[in-house]
Amino acid sequence: MPSEESHIFHPHQAVVKQAYVSSLSQYQEMYKKSLENPEEFWGEIAKQFYWETPIDYKNFFRFNFDLSKGPIFNKWLDGATTNISYNLLDRNVRNGYGDKVAYYWEGNHPDDYSRLTYKKLLEEVCRFANVLKSRGVQKGDRVAIYMPMILEGVITLLACTRIGAIHSLIFAGFSSDSFAERILDCEARVIVTADGVWRGEKLLQLKTICDQAMAKCAKEGHNVETCVVVSHLERVTSPKGVSQQRQTNRTPMTEDRDIWWQDVVPQASTSCYPEWMQAEDPLFMLYTSGSTGKPKGVLHTTAGYLLYAATTFKYVFDYKPNDVYWCTADIGWITGHSYVVYGPLANAATSVLFEGTPFYPDNDRFWTVVDKYKVTQFYTAPTAIRALMKFDDHLVVRHDLSTLRVLGSVGEPINPEAWLWYYKLVGREKCSIVDTFWQTETGGHVLTTLPGAQPMKPGSAGFPFFGVQPVILDENGKEIKGEGEGYLVFSRPWPGLMRTLYGNHDRYELTYFSKFPGYYCTGDGAKRDADGYLWVTGRVDDMLNVSGHLMSTAEVESVLTEHPGVAEAAVVAKPHPVKGECLYCFITLTEAGKFDDKLLKELKTHVRERIGPFAQPDVIQNAPALPKTRSGKIMRRILRKIAVNDRNVGDVSTLADSSVVEQLFASRPVNI
Ligand code: PRX
Repeated sequence: MPSEESHIFHPHQAVVKQAYVSSLSQYQEMYKKSLENPEEFWGEIAKQFYWETPIDYKNFFRFNFDLSKGPIFNKWLDGATTNISYNLLDRNVRNGYGDKVAYYWEGNHPDDYSRLTYKKLLEEVCRFANVLKSRGVQKGDRVAIYMPMILEGVITLLACTRIGAIHSLIFAGFSSDSFAERILDCEARVIVTADGVWRGEKLLQLKTICDQAMAKCAKEGHNVETCVVVSHLERVTSPKGVSQQRQTNRTPMTEDRDIWWQDVVPQASTSCYPEWMQAEDPLFMLYTSGSTGKPKGVLHTTAGYLLYAATTFKYVFDYKPNDVYWCTADIGWITGHSYVVYGPLANAATSVLFEGTPFYPDNDRFWTVVDKYKVTQFYTAPTAIRALMKFDDHLVVRHDLSTLRVLGSVGEPINPEAWLWYYKLVGREKCSIVDTFWQTETGGHVLTTLPGAQPMKPGSAGFPFFGVQPVILDENGKEIKGEGEGYLVFSRPWPGLMRTLYGNHDRYELTYFSKFPGYYCTGDGAKRDADGYLWVTGRVDDMLNVSGHLMSTAEVESVLTEHPGVAEAAVVAKPHPVKGECLYCFITLTEAGKFDDKLLKELKTHVRERIGPFAQPDVIQNAPALPKTRSGKIMRRILRKIAVNDRNVGDVSTLADSSVVEQLFASRPVNI
């Protein structure tokens, strides 16, 4: 029986033949150049974009990753000026792509679909940029966006970049509390949202959530000045087949603050002169969970992010001019930013923008859409693959998926079983799978195979992308060369690596650069096999990855202890067949607390309301006491063992009271 590491799949000849990078040696040559001569490597790529102030090649990039030498920084193309929307839209229109479709929009209901060409997208972006300007939005202002997967979402992002405003998308699955916390942190003056959206058969009233969030902000003394609302529900088909009434009557609008998109955008001018931005001016911020519980506003800047999103998109998906690319990620996550919006548009690509779910109206919706648009590259998450694997194969087999060439995976490690299903059933053994490892912080893919260049190993993310230098360190910070397992870190920046955490450079330095001086620390573990393939083994900190959503144990714990019945909480990850990981919570009750169904229901609802539905705990166990060291530190290592009922708990000698462990094993909830 071959071990996982020796299970190798070679790219199909049809993929190799047309690939930009079609051999291992070509990859190695390009990789070497990207490290030895970054100015030339990235400079060549930069030439295809427009720079209002030209690039100074002598000052191409600088960085410091070592705190003992001063503040951490990472700057690319400093001194050059450009505008991203200009590069993504005007430049493409000038290059003859005006009539090319930028997006096929596919609604939640199969009867709803539309398309937008590059020329039209440019016009709409300019219109909305003018609306933002008319509401007083200026360069550097933050605009908070809480949008479903609709074309106005993309338009809003690009309208911000047109005028130099910093966009801050908040995934429209976050609760009003989480949304408010983020609005306050970035002090957004403007919010852009929609009245609501159907997700399968479920209606989400987004504007209502925005109202609650804005009310919470007002209590904290922050008044949002403008809330632009796309009237979306009236134009789509509801699941029951009844078209919705325009929501004007039902969606409460606050005078002077709230405006309907449709009332202001159509009459705005279709031209808007771009704001020329410094290469290192902020482009956007995006929140990601932090291990202390408070979300971190990851900040990306203009030039480096553009180069990196564009280049990874081109090579990792091997995008060619007539291809139709589809990434199923929501624009509220980094995958949506880099690979639904910026990367594809920088390459004048045609993409599918999908509003719905894989399960509506049937469990073959993904494959129906691939067939409908003749998709060539498909990019999704392992959790979706695992959910779809459960259904009968004929739901996949009955569709013509022959246009597919590259299949992508992102967000969490993909288990070999899911990989093989994706490869065999969806890819029909003809497609290359790219297992892309990256993070909100990295801006774009950092580890992956390239579709025509390297053989694939199910479950391995492969090799570093151009410009990326991964290192594996042991606990003492010593580099593990060759085969081995340890902490995954990077010894130098690439253009897309984040620059700071918004308003908190100290936390940035502390979180990413203090554990191992001289390295950017991912927080993930990895191992390198004998062939040099990298395998990401998962988080090494207190983070959980539920269906590709990263969250911190501290975040959930603090929400659980807000309940008057809970004195203390400890949350660990438990493996889950579809979600990858799920939340297993241990709670110690207060004197007032009573462990019953009512409490469990209240806690689940509370977590949903405070964080979002994706954070709902799967298991809550009553823990009269938690395993703690004598200094009071909870030993999560032991709790993780209890969660999976593995009695191999290892050394318990540092525990203040080791009998706690046996009690918890004995009182594990049944039927989990
Ligand atoms: O633990 C890694 C996991 O997701 C984390 C980053 O989450 P986020 O910033 O939300 O970005 C997700 C989309 C890029 C990483 O630290 N992760 C992401 N992709 C993979 C992965 N783990 C293993 N394999 C991957 N391909």
